[in-house]
Amino acid sequence: MFKQCYSFDDVLLSPLKSDIESRTEIDIGNNIKDINFKLPIVSSPMDTVTEASMAKSMSEHGGLGIIHRYNTIHQQVMKVNEALLTDGSRKIGVAVGVSGDYIERASESISAGVSVVCVDIAHGHHSLMERALKSLKDRFGDICIIAGNVATPEGYYDLSQWGADAVRVGIGGGSICSTRIQTGHGVPTFQSVLACSHVDIDTPIIADGGIKSAGDVVKSLAAGADFVMLGSMLAGTDEAPGQVFEASDSKKYKVYRGMASKEAQTAWRGSTSSLEGISTTIPYKGSVDDILTELAQNIRSGLSYSGAKNISELRSKANFIVQTGAGQTESRTHILNVR
Ligand code: XMP
Repeated sequence: MFKQCYSFDDVLLSPLKSDIESRTEIDIGNNIKDINFKLPIVSSPMDTVTEASMAKSMSEHGGLGIIHRYNTIHQQVMKVNEALLTDGSRKIGVAVGVSGDYIERASESISAGVSVVCVDIAHGHHSLMERALKSLKDRFGDICIIAGNVATPEGYYDLSQWGADAVRVGIGGGSICSTRIQTGHGVPTFQSVLACSHVDIDTPIIADGGIKSAGDVVKSLAAGADFVMLGSMLAGTDEAPGQVFEASDSKKYKVYRGMASKEAQTAWRGSTSSLEGISTTIPYKGSVDDILTELAQNIRSGLSYSGAKNISELRSKANFIVQTGAGQTESRTHILNVR
């Protein structure tokens, strides 16, 4: 009667015969509209993840950073100007909402040279999203637009029809989200991606929320995502906004917070409504360059286990299996738990 939905940890990819002799043969790039990205990773538009420094590093590694919208237009454009190169070689995105100043915000950033505008709201399958996407398309024609978030094939289809060039898929799965607890709504991100991938359109899917390892990135791509969006995996790095501090355990940390947390809402609009996220600390991780380099290596390795030379081959070959609880235990590095 009820549909069973799977999450990342429920599934594994069964290895397949490979004839790939070197992982350098594997292409993990993908396109949104006519923009090619060599790395299928997008950094979240959150105030503890993406400002100028993260956007710059994401672009240098072939991915995309989306500068968050929780600031004034002037502040956001300053961050864009810091992050862009005058020769236009860096690809940077900015987030906008669906009401208020969103047209002006998009306009200023497009004039400054951004390549992508991300229409960023919690429940993207909404008439306000339809209006915003149509207005942005009318006004800015060819600019590449990412929109979200949605959790269902219907949402993915509608946003694509309304003008989105890529859709963020995943509601309530983020590491700092409390949407499912507060509202009872959401779908495991893996399941949402799988369901959207069966819709007969080719608008790129960006899996967003709950991706905690390179393995989850590979599972997302195999399930039908063209890109993944990462928050917690990139937070806590030098390039993420915020200060490093030493806690009473003498270890270093940075703050990572949901944009619907009390702390984030208070910081950007001085008041709160419908709290659907938390603020927490995350171990300090050093430079994001090392994380992105390692992620790229692990994603390539993941494709090679499925004998896939690129993301579309991975998707067509992928052989998912469901794990039992004992399988999930075995899949973790369980020897480390022995005292
Ligand atoms: P990860 O798991 O990568 O998730 O840390 C990042 C994604 O979480 C979403 N996000 C939120 N979702 N309440 C939510 O329900 C929030 O306060 C919140 N802030 C961010 C967003 O999609 C992000 O990319």
